Amino acid sequence: MPLVRTGELVSAARAARRGLAAFNVITLEHAEAVAAGAERAGAPAVLQVSENAVKFHGGRLGPLAAAATAVARASSAPLALHLDHVESVDLLRQAHAEGFGSVMFDASRLSYGDNVKATADAVRWGRERGIWVEAELGRVGGKEGEPPLDAHAPGVRTDPAEAAAYVADTGVDALAVAVGSSHAMTERTAALDHGLITALHDAVPVPLVLHGSSGVPDDEIRAAVAAGMTKINVGTALNTAYTTAVRTHLTEDTTSVDPRKYLTKAREAMTETVTAFLRLM
Ligand code: G3H
Ligand code: ZN
Repeated sequence: MPLVRTGELVSAARAARRGLAAFNVITLEHAEAVAAGAERAGAPAVLQVSENAVKFHGGRLGPLAAAATAVARASSAPLALHLDHVESVDLLRQAHAEGFGSVMFDASRLSYGDNVKATADAVRWGRERGIWVEAELGRVGGKEGEPPLDAHAPGVRTDPAEAAAYVADTGVDALAVAVGSSHAMTERTAALDHGLITALHDAVPVPLVLHGSSGVPDDEIRAAVAAGMTKINVGTALNTAYTTAVRTHLTEDTTSVDPRKYLTKAREAMTETVTAFLRLM
């Protein structure tokens, strides 16, 4: 089916008080697994390409975007295409031409004032092109190239009053918030601050986004959605499934050389992970 827009999927999920899962795509097999999982679960999903994935592909957005778009169009599930954790304004500006309906512009490393200014510029650029823009306030740690950040350290979490001002001053369509999760966790042990999620949901008029959801247990995700979290970003869980399947295959069959043998297993393992997250939504 044709690509669906992230903003439409997020609005529908928010109105129904459901979660909408967004999965990071690094390879063609990731995109195929998201589509297969969405078909299996009978649910919509977002395929997201991060700035780090673009760097991995030699700084070129086009090939992976084209692959993800083709996979989404060939699927019977409603799928959207989102550009994730964009810090480079140059990359942001490629989003429209490459078919992305939404972008997460990440200026969270900047001071509050600089974050507002850079994000407001990105939102203005997006509005002129019909692109839905998500941004981050607070610090969700564990990003590549950053020293580890304690998700429970003072000053890391998103303040509801500051979030309300930030949304008003930038005009963002959705807000990524720091509520206890952290990126790149391989164990599902994160404890979220559900009181803070409720306070943020009451304070800001736009949908909330949970980053680092791979490290969040099912019950915590369910409670977060009930408290008002809408877009649930998942990346590492797919990579864990992929790598575990490849490692198992290559350990059991040390003479194997055909990548189709182990990538079939990796893709199926990711599909199971996607399906489980989508059923949770
Ligand atoms: O933006 C992407 C997500 O926050 C993914 O985080 O890899 O920890 O699941 P994760
Ligand atoms: Zn993230």
